[in-house]
Amino acid sequence: MIPQDFIQTLLDRIDIVGVVERYVPLKKAGANYQARCPFHNEKTPSFTVSPTKQFYHCFGCGAHGTAITFLMEHAGLGFVEAVRELAGQAGMQVPDDGARTPEDGRRDRLYEVMAAAADFYRGELRQSPAAIRYLKERGLAGETAARYGLGYAPDDWQGLARALPDYRDRALEEAGLVIAGEGGKRYDRFRARVMFPIRNERGRVIAFGGRVLGAGEPKYLNSPETPLFHKGRELYGLSEARRAIQAAGRAIVVEGYMDVVMLAQHGAENAVATLGTAVTSDQVERLLRLTDAVVFAFDGDAAGRKAAWRALENSLPQLVDGKRLGFLFLPEGEDPDSYVRAQGREAFEAMCERAVPLSQFLLDEMTAQTDLASPEGRVRLVKLVEPYLAQLRKAPLLAASLRRQLAGLAGLPGRREGPRFKDREVGRGEAQGRGPSRRGGLPSPYRVVLQALLQDPARVARVPAGLPAGRSPDAQALSGVVDLLRERPELRAARDIVEGFRGREEQPVLEAAAAAMLAWGEDYDAEADFRGALATLVEHAGRQQARDLSRKRPSEMTAEEKARFLESLRARKLSDAAPVEGSSTPAGEN
Ligand code: UTP
Ligand code: MN
Repeated sequence: MIPQDFIQTLLDRIDIVGVVERYVPLKKAGANYQARCPFHNEKTPSFTVSPTKQFYHCFGCGAHGTAITFLMEHAGLGFVEAVRELAGQAGMQVPDDGARTPEDGRRDRLYEVMAAAADFYRGELRQSPAAIRYLKERGLAGETAARYGLGYAPDDWQGLARALPDYRDRALEEAGLVIAGEGGKRYDRFRARVMFPIRNERGRVIAFGGRVLGAGEPKYLNSPETPLFHKGRELYGLSEARRAIQAAGRAIVVEGYMDVVMLAQHGAENAVATLGTAVTSDQVERLLRLTDAVVFAFDGDAAGRKAAWRALENSLPQLVDGKRLGFLFLPEGEDPDSYVRAQGREAFEAMCERAVPLSQFLLDEMTAQTDLASPEGRVRLVKLVEPYLAQLRKAPLLAASLRRQLAGLAGLPGRREGPRFKDREVGRGEAQGRGPSRRGGLPSPYRVVLQALLQDPARVARVPAGLPAGRSPDAQALSGVVDLLRERPELRAARDIVEGFRGREEQPVLEAAAAAMLAWGEDYDAEADFRGALATLVEHAGRQQARDLSRKRPSEMTAEEKARFLESLRARKLSDAAPVEGSSTPAGEN
């Protein structure tokens, strides 16, 4: 353990401004320094470094800390490494270096071995005409190969013996480079393959992916899980893409090594790849720490859709409100590599722009599994999607928005709240000619009354005569149900009421209304909404009559009509500043 007072002295000696400035260009702003935050993507600088407090803070994302924290969070160093790095800069000797555990030493040894292997493979590539020819044929430029440190593992059982002083070193096995076979026979895991080094965020080689030249099985061979490499956590190309991701404000996740490399060669340097497995939650979390937008690019075939779905499932718990995840499906038979070579970077990026947002992908996939034409299907849709929405723990706003969207799609009231309606809002939409509306998934007052009647037919006694005669399906169904219940007061069950309309136009509306009631929460107060909706309809009926009357000349009115007309004018002056002329049907029709 490094003593606390050493750390204090260290932090006193170094200047956080200088430390941060190595990574992020800072501008003086009053007593402090500012920059665009390196921890999230932003247009205006809210990242502030205080030389007096020796502290940084981002007002945008809340990142904050000391110079040590900065090196840990930004450069990806461990605590001890960060301290050592700063001590080096300050010319101080870290006390008790023995604090390094044997395990630290072991890992360092593995890093060394991997670095030596990567060097060896790189050198071998230069001397292998077959490998060079293969890569050239695939359109790979020499600079790209250099940038990604590509190499070649020679067709040799113990090639690495030339790279490392002791081929028998256990570290070679532990690093996954050498396999110990039966009888103590040891041999190279990678032979006759183009080598893609996989680096961690700090740029150290932690694993390899090796491709056969041309045809052969397996096409790619990857390092096994080692103390350095957990493939569900790493992303190929992240170390190389980091800056470009921050600059572009977006990361692109593809499936293959070659996809990353070729995209970068064509100028799209913000791509990373999963390592032959489904996109994991860890990977998504990592990317979302770096940027606000991630696009997953998948093959357009069935396997691609399946992989995309897995990515969606694993992303949900990591999605944060305000961040965007999109899904992109390439044309059949293409991968990002072939696409960018044929169509160029701009076409590829345009495709990224059009990526399907996660929410839409979710709803699309789920609606494809349900029959929205039937009430059962609509209810099933709600039931299918709900568990996924429950996963959006870090994105409550998106979850709420999706619930509303879903309710609209399924013709259901928003789930928690139960049905609610706002006559003014609905009325305004209509006056502006937006037509019958189910805006925001809010049910019309007709539907609310209708459902209240289905729930308790005895309520019909409280429905006054002369409700507005709307032409919408809801209005028609309501008027049909009111008539039926007046005629047959013995009907008590919603099922019997719906049955009474079999084969008639109103039947589907009634079925949908009844189905939607299944989603009512226990705390939903149908009675209160019934009263509110009824009041709205009665009020509209009054206005409608007044309007009709106002079209008559007073000489054509009966005495009773005249009295009602005057009454309505008075009421209007008192309660309604906004005239409703021009809207000829009651609001909220749909
Ligand atoms: P693909 O089969 O889509 O290959 O595998 P690719 O990347 O387009 O390869 P090229 O263009 O033929 O060279 C996608 C990814 O799946 C993993 C690798 O990470 C690969 O990049 N994979 C694939 C394996 O790990 N092993 C395999 O045998 C095949
Ligand atoms: Mn490919």
